[in-house]
Amino acid sequence: WWMILLSALIAYLLGSINTAVLVTGIVTKGKKDIRQMGSGNAGFTNVLRSVGKVPAIITIVCDALKCIIAVLIGGFIFSFASVAFQGESPIFINELINCGKYVAGIFCILGHSYPVYFHFKGGKGVVTAAALMLTEDWRVFIAIIVTFLIIFLCSKIISLASVLCAILYAPYTFAMTFIFDFIIYKDYSLTYVIFSTAAALLIGVFVLVKHKENIKRLLKGEEKKITAKK
Ligand code: G3P
Repeated sequence: WWMILLSALIAYLLGSINTAVLVTGIVTKGKKDIRQMGSGNAGFTNVLRSVGKVPAIITIVCDALKCIIAVLIGGFIFSFASVAFQGESPIFINELINCGKYVAGIFCILGHSYPVYFHFKGGKGVVTAAALMLTEDWRVFIAIIVTFLIIFLCSKIISLASVLCAILYAPYTFAMTFIFDFIIYKDYSLTYVIFSTAAALLIGVFVLVKHKENIKRLLKGEEKKITAKK
């Protein structure tokens, strides 16, 4: 249990470093809080809309990096702890390390959305979830990014792309791990396929819940297309 707690704690503290809040504070010399601007969300989209392109790029890069670092640390802690499972198959050890990455990724997303340093008011977890996908399973990441770009380029609405990708995250994860890893390459067990799909479902539902106001606006046709602040 110590490895779960340690990975979760480190990931949560790293995730709590909300770049949107920090960058906006720096750019406006402490005069403005991104959570009082635009949509009120402390994330990439709102920084692009309310602060500018460069701060938005810094936000996306730093938010992705913190999650990649958290996930790698989680994987490292679980691989360190896997010494206790000597004698188990390499497949089991690999699955254990991947589970550690999911634990860290989920807690990093939680930290990002409920940051301990910023009164527990953060972002919606889209960039951090994408960074977790990249570190955990590059095939799912590519599928999600291509889907995201197609929806965004057709609609110019970032929240619509985020919501649809959140819905597709679990089915994509299941398809990739079940077809490739379980059936074709046989390098993961069915238990791991179910675990990774459940983790993706949990993250997808979390991102959807964080987008409930966006979903209401989308259904009413009131969600605005993205514009960048000049
Ligand atoms: O990254 C979050 C995005 O999907 C929606 O952001 O600011 O339009 O609520 P926002």
